[in-house]
Amino acid sequence: MQHTLNRWPARLDLLQSLSGLLLVLFIWGHMFFESSILLGKDAMLWVTKMFEGEHLFGQPYPLLVSAAAAIVFLLIALHALLALRKFPASYRQYQRLNQHVGSIRHLDTTLWVVQVITGFLLFFLASVHLLVVMVQPDNIGPYASSDRIWSGRFWILYAFLLLVVHVHAGIGIYRLAMKWGPFSAATSGLWRGRIKLTVYCIVAFYLCLGTASLVTYMRIGAEHAPYAGERYDPAIHGAAR
Ligand code: HEM
Repeated sequence: MQHTLNRWPARLDLLQSLSGLLLVLFIWGHMFFESSILLGKDAMLWVTKMFEGEHLFGQPYPLLVSAAAAIVFLLIALHALLALRKFPASYRQYQRLNQHVGSIRHLDTTLWVVQVITGFLLFFLASVHLLVVMVQPDNIGPYASSDRIWSGRFWILYAFLLLVVHVHAGIGIYRLAMKWGPFSAATSGLWRGRIKLTVYCIVAFYLCLGTASLVTYMRIGAEHAPYAGERYDPAIHGAAR
């Protein structure tokens, strides 16, 4: 009897890894741009204008930012759809998983469960942020962002999002490295330790960078609170207000 090999599970697995890799690279890049506020308000304004295409076209096109956010949103939707295949689908499956995790006490299995939980939380946390960026792309800048974060109380969302997205990205990249990395069975144990340590350092770095930026936006927002809600126009106010 001839068996036909179904290649689809492998293809979907590859697509999930690829979409995950792109999202990790995106969020790591995003952190550098967004933390330009640490270099000052002018630096963040320059980055904002760059994404609006002003340095290239001579005038800002905030729709470019909406388009970028829409692409990231679609990528997240694809990644989440592919990941849903692996979520426990019933209470019984969930109970078995829980027993399994408790009995074998295997760190990588525990990390997988953390990945499922953080992934689930990202459905909500990332959607709120992306919706704001998509519908108000012109409302980004040193003061607009700080006002949203302080007077609009978005720091609450960002504090959770920061932690959740970096834990998810860190575990994700660790799993990708272990899954696709060119290690032999003999050396994989050695590499596992090295990769784990590297990923811990990367996650700690981004959490520190993100916290420092968030606190800076909050400080600027608190100082600027009396003017929050006024339409900010860089052409009139300059970066200083
Ligand atoms: C093209 C899409 C995106 C754009 C243009 C964008 C832009 C921004 C901007 C301008 C801020 C500063 C605060 C504000 O203005 O509200 C910010 C903060 C933040 N964004 Fe995004 N973002 C995008 C996608 C994402 C995604 C997909 C995630 C994670 C799933 C994310 C996670 C965060 C986090 C955690 C913060 C707070 C960072 C901190 O604590 O310093 N962003 N983003």
